[in-house]
Amino acid sequence: MATQISRDLAQSGPAHADPLPPVKRDTLLDAFRTTRSLSMTLADPLSTEDMVIQTMPDVSPTKWHMAHTTWFFETFLLKPNVTEYRPFHDAFEYLFNSYYNAVGAQFPRPERGLLSRPTVGEIEDYRRHVDAAMERLITDSSDDLWTQIAPLIELGVHHEQQHQELTLTDIKHVLSWNPLKPAAYGVKPKVFRKSAPLNFINFEGGIFKIGHEGTAFAFDCEGPRHDQLVRPFALANRPVTNGEYLEFIEDGGYRTPHLWLSDGWADLKEGGWQAPLYWSEQDGEWTEFTLHGAKKLNPHLPVTHVSFYEAAAFAAWTGARLPSEAELELAARSQDVAGNFLTTEHLHPSPVETNDNNKLLQIYGDVWEWSQSAYSPYPGFCAAEGAVGEYNGKFMSGQLVLKGGSCATPPGHMRPTYRNFFPPAARWQFSGIRLAKDI
Ligand code: AVJ
Ligand code: FE
Repeated sequence: MATQISRDLAQSGPAHADPLPPVKRDTLLDAFRTTRSLSMTLADPLSTEDMVIQTMPDVSPTKWHMAHTTWFFETFLLKPNVTEYRPFHDAFEYLFNSYYNAVGAQFPRPERGLLSRPTVGEIEDYRRHVDAAMERLITDSSDDLWTQIAPLIELGVHHEQQHQELTLTDIKHVLSWNPLKPAAYGVKPKVFRKSAPLNFINFEGGIFKIGHEGTAFAFDCEGPRHDQLVRPFALANRPVTNGEYLEFIEDGGYRTPHLWLSDGWADLKEGGWQAPLYWSEQDGEWTEFTLHGAKKLNPHLPVTHVSFYEAAAFAAWTGARLPSEAELELAARSQDVAGNFLTTEHLHPSPVETNDNNKLLQIYGDVWEWSQSAYSPYPGFCAAEGAVGEYNGKFMSGQLVLKGGSCATPPGHMRPTYRNFFPPAARWQFSGIRLAKDI
């Protein structure tokens, strides 16, 4: 409803940034092909039956991810820009719309696992149909159209990368449900015998520029770059390990209410939490379910699959705290973007085996690090117009920022300003803990 007030505010509000120079067609065509094909590689070792199941509302079946990422290109690129494009199937607009109200109604999320049709094979045909049309659009569109659509195609590629990580965390949940404890990805992980000794590294305080700026791709929520006061702080040199977390458990961490946030204590009670998701204990022996099957718990590996509440309770138990997103961004900026990201051989967090405890390790990859910062708009944030404006902005309530990426994040997807976000009780992502302190 455009009232006088909303019109006045719209005129005085922050202007949308000037359009950036478009990415080169062959660069984007390469990225498009690599990304589309990685999604299929991840599905390769799965059976058709694996790809259909949904074990909780947050989890989507693999075949849904394969279809929804395709839907994104069909809905936002092909239908609006290619007059001769023929949609693959009329019902797919509804079936594979995740949450875009501007596009239309959506098939209910908790029921995605109840659909035996379209089959996996039909979804593979859907992917081929859309891939062919997208390749033509990327190669043959006029220069004017290209300037307009290149940023959206880039968004579609980064969107599919996000769904690659979700495909892995979702199938992990599906397989963990099965008493056979299947090893979906068969390659034997490396054996690790040590992690770096824990140490805190000091950072200076000041007023820093935080957030994304410039021409490289970033999601809208990463900007605008703005001044942020950061007081002197210290960050742990590496994420918390399974061994350290086990001490918290053995010290009665899950039975000590004063360590917990009130909402976290309620979720612990309701969910019967006694350890991270995927841990189980029998006769004093702990096992951790991984994408390589059930494994004896290795104390040197970073702890993962903890909620924000568990991370905060653990930090309280140690007398430290969780870092803010600005602190993690400053730490990330001091490092090359490299680490244990998604490779098909090693889909689990690992330690860096070193005695040098003065180096900041594993800021990238392995586990997402819970920050204590709310996922809220940066000053001056303004969601894009139209349906893609629903991509991030409308989730800025009740969620927390996680930083750095994980062993399930595709290579090339991460950067210092990246803001992942999940509700505080979420445990099925590769989420871990890095401690921080005031100094
Ligand atoms: C940033 C991982 C929370 O899971 O909805 C996928 C990523 N956005 N499709 C999510 C996303 C649109 C998003 N997270
Ligand atoms: Fe999506």
